[in-house]
Amino acid sequence: MAEATLGGSADSVSFEEAGLRYEVDGEIATITLDRPDKRNAQTFATWSALARIGDDLPEQVRIVVIQGEGPSFSAGIDLRMFTPEGVPGQGSFSSTAQLDEKSFEQVIEQAQQGFLWLRRPEIVSIAAVQGHAIGAGFQLALACDLRIVADDVKFCMKEPALGLVPDLTGTKPLVDLVGTAKAIDICLTARVVGAEEAFRIGLAEHVVNRGGLAQAVQEKAAELLTTNRDAATATKRLLQGARGRTLEEQAAAERVEQKARIKALFAGS
Ligand code: ACO
Repeated sequence: MAEATLGGSADSVSFEEAGLRYEVDGEIATITLDRPDKRNAQTFATWSALARIGDDLPEQVRIVVIQGEGPSFSAGIDLRMFTPEGVPGQGSFSSTAQLDEKSFEQVIEQAQQGFLWLRRPEIVSIAAVQGHAIGAGFQLALACDLRIVADDVKFCMKEPALGLVPDLTGTKPLVDLVGTAKAIDICLTARVVGAEEAFRIGLAEHVVNRGGLAQAVQEKAAELLTTNRDAATATKRLLQGARGRTLEEQAAAERVEQKARIKALFAGS
């Protein structure tokens, strides 16, 4: 296993300072939100560290697991952002609000980079979620392809209750998973969605006992690794594009991917 640190200039904080642990073990990368005493609250440093992990992900990695240390997966954005003092070295919403239009846009776009890469076709991302997954925590779970949850999970899209919108790429997967009406219900009430409902409405693939979460994720990862890597990538690409295409367009996309697979497998035989 390799423990890595952040390089680069502007955002060169260590993973520890960003509240993360990061390990790569063969084909599986594991990212752990690791500020349990603050319920794994997230900061801009957390998101830039996530983006850096995505940029530098070793080519052999096929599975990315995101998990949280302690009782909660994540209590969302660090609430110090709402104070005039903000998070040391990272500013506050008050200071962000003073930025010119372009810089303001860039700040949000940069934060979103921490989440977007988790949809790459070459990987399957799995969120292992226990306890609270609030705001940015819920959105991080939504950024993953699969959610395996403990029976004590409490999803909550708190942003509208705080006067904000969910902007960490969570609105699209939420609508894709549960539909617009249910997404409106969940976001505009900021209510808690527990394990039974999460499973019923398609937010969670599996619900397990709290103590069995790590094992369930390990088993899913092992199952996912049994399929052919290139076929898995091509199939994920097809599935991701399916909603945006007509049946005819999807059939055409299937032909393109299959021709590439058959050529790769049999052209030399
Ligand atoms: N930011 C900063 N610190 C936090 C956060 C947060 N989001 N959430 C919890 N903490 C800190 C608490 O201040 C407390 O610190 P302290 O021990 O120094 O006093 C510690 O974590 C433990 O928190 P408790 O509230 O005591 O833990 P409990 O398990 O009882 O409750 C819960 C957990 C429900 C998550 C609660 O802490 C909470 O409601 N947190 C705020 C959630 C929130 O509103 N997040 C913003 C969402 S919006 C967005 O993400 C964009």
